[in-house]
Amino acid sequence: MSCKLRPAIAALLGWLAVAHAVSFEVKDGNSTCIKAELSANFTITYPVTNGTKKVTVPLPASAVVGSGSSCGDSGVSPQLLASFEGGHSLGLFFSRDNSQYKVATLSMRYNLSDNVTFPESSVKGIITSSTNTSGISAQLNTTYRCLSFNSIRLEDPNITITFSDVRMEAYMPNANLSTKESVCTADLPATTVAPTQSPTTTPAPAPPSNPERGSYNVTNINGTVCLLAKMGLQLNVTYISKTQNKTVQGIVNLQPNRTTFSGSCEDTTATLILTDELTNLTFTFTLNSTSKMYHLSALSMSAAWPDMPAPVTLSNSSLNYLQGSLGRSYMCRSEQILPVVDSFSLNTFRLQVQPFGVNGNQFGTAEECQMDQDNMLIPIIVGAALAGLVLIVLVAYLIGRKRSHAGYQTI
Ligand SMILES: *[C@@H]1O[C@H](CO)[C@@H](O)[C@H](O)[C@H]1NC(C)=O
Ligand SMILES: *[C@@H]1O[C@H](CO)[C@@H](O)[C@H](O)[C@H]1NC(C)=O
Ligand SMILES: *[C@@H]1O[C@H](CO)[C@@H](O)[C@H](O)[C@H]1NC(C)=O
Ligand SMILES: *[C@@H]1O[C@H](CO)[C@@H](O)[C@H](O)[C@H]1NC(C)=O
Ligand SMILES: *[C@@H]1O[C@H](CO)[C@@H](O)[C@H](O)[C@H]1NC(C)=O
Ligand SMILES: *[C@@H]1O[C@H](CO)[C@@H](O)[C@H](O)[C@H]1NC(C)=O
Ligand SMILES: *[C@@H]1O[C@H](CO)[C@@H](O)[C@H](O)[C@H]1NC(C)=O
Ligand SMILES: *[C@@H]1O[C@H](CO)[C@@H](O)[C@H](O)[C@H]1NC(C)=O
Ligand SMILES: *[C@@H]1O[C@H](CO)[C@@H](O)[C@H](O)[C@H]1NC(C)=O
Ligand SMILES: *[C@@H]1O[C@H](CO)[C@@H](O)[C@H](O)[C@H]1NC(C)=O
Ligand SMILES: *[C@@H]1O[C@H](CO)[C@@H](O)[C@H](O)[C@H]1NC(C)=O
Ligand SMILES: *[C@@H]1O[C@H](CO)[C@@H](O)[C@H](O)[C@H]1NC(C)=O
Repeated sequence: MSCKLRPAIAALLGWLAVAHAVSFEVKDGNSTCIKAELSANFTITYPVTNGTKKVTVPLPASAVVGSGSSCGDSGVSPQLLASFEGGHSLGLFFSRDNSQYKVATLSMRYNLSDNVTFPESSVKGIITSSTNTSGISAQLNTTYRCLSFNSIRLEDPNITITFSDVRMEAYMPNANLSTKESVCTADLPATTVAPTQSPTTTPAPAPPSNPERGSYNVTNINGTVCLLAKMGLQLNVTYISKTQNKTVQGIVNLQPNRTTFSGSCEDTTATLILTDELTNLTFTFTLNSTSKMYHLSALSMSAAWPDMPAPVTLSNSSLNYLQGSLGRSYMCRSEQILPVVDSFSLNTFRLQVQPFGVNGNQFGTAEECQMDQDNMLIPIIVGAALAGLVLIVLVAYLIGRKRSHAGYQTI
């Protein structure tokens, strides 16, 4: 009985949690351009005769799409004004480029004359506060999803909006929210992202766990596999966090099951392109046809993480990593740190690659990195020491046995 009740209660709690999200739809004639489901709290400090007072106002379920909402047209951006009792409204002004849309301006209009919400306010009238760095962005034709709490500060005067349970889309291709989602960083699994605090303020959190190992391959025009790679990848990107307004280190593990791969093979260059929702990573390998050695010669990364003020592209095409011989694979079980540019390095784990001369869909003989060889040295030394010890004991035993044997015979 109680076993059956538990899922029911969980479902009910889940429903209650979702139920306080408020839905909005902005239409132009018959066509929907913005749909939003969200919950929000507004934390507002206002003046009273004595000093200031702070209130937290929820976005009520009775909020409606206010006049002033529009799908926009040339020169005017689509906008959603969510109006609610007391003369208050939340404004989302969207903009887009070829690949993404974002909330370009987030604003809040509140009415201090509303003496129910703002008791004893010493100022009356409408106040507007806004920000142009909301941090809310998504790929076009996807739904922006952020179920986690996401606090955004508006300025002049300072107020804080805390969103949660957000699903929304602008520039919609049709009337329903797209099934494909752009998920905010806060919603990604905890181990995936650990924006490191700047060292002066707080100690860095524990680094995320090692990334899972993915298997990637590239086939040439003939349909034969020409590049093979197995590796766990971790990105270390330094950027200015929109939500924290300071420089952070984003340590992000590439999740193989969310990553698609492609690439190309030519005589002396081979590329591997790994793509997930928010990141593109391109490896370029070069073969020196004289020395019959290959190496990783270029790495390029572009990221559009939700907490970044703008997408970044970081690359370096004069690298010399992962050197191996044609027909063989390069292997490094140990973690390797490959610095690319000052603000980006790639950490590899349990790596094996072969960008050229793949035969029969299999890795050739592995050439191990120096670090693995060094690591192998310790067991070898320990093993040799143990073997030496065994030898000494054996010799001592044999000598001892011979002596006692001799002693026995004389009696
Ligand atoms: C709305 O849809 C109806 C029927 O689907 C159509 O007749 C009408 O012209 C449309 N109106 C606009 C403004 O597109
Ligand atoms: C708003 O505040 C209420 C009460 O403190 C809380 O239960 C709710 O989770 C908050 N919602 C958001 C979106 O911050
Ligand atoms: C002024 O502030 C004090 C302490 O914060 C409070 O007890 C008192 O009620 C306030 N007076 C008015 C008129 O708001
Ligand atoms: C709020 O203002 C109205 C008129 O503006 C007044 O009648 C009412 O008493 C006020 N309520 C409070 C709690 O001050
Ligand atoms: C608003 O926030 C900024 C930055 O934290 C701060 O410098 C400023 O004093 C704040 N203004 C008010 C009115 O609190
Ligand atoms: C979004 O969808 C529309 C309609 O399906 C299509 O025309 C457009 O190219 C798509 N845009 C992107 C960036 O995928
Ligand atoms: C495709 O196969 C043909 C014949 O087997 C070969 O000559 C050619 O080099 C192959 N092309 C590539 C890109 O491997
Ligand atoms: C990330 O890069 C920074 C700066 O290069 C470095 O100090 C830090 O140790 C790196 N973190 C990880 C987990 O690789
Ligand atoms: C970010 O911080 C800088 C200085 O640290 C400050 O000048 C700026 O106003 C802050 N911006 C926001 C949006 O808080
Ligand atoms: C991806 O892998 C993670 C961790 O192994 C797992 O929890 C998740 O369900 C997987 N997702 C998909 C879509 O397979
Ligand atoms: C990754 O590459 C694809 C295809 O070129 C592009 O549409 C997408 O915007 C890129 N993503 C990022 C984060 O740069
Ligand atoms: C190459 O990748 C495809 C798609 O994941 C997979 O089905 C295939 O087995 C891989 N081939 C090799 C040789 O690993």
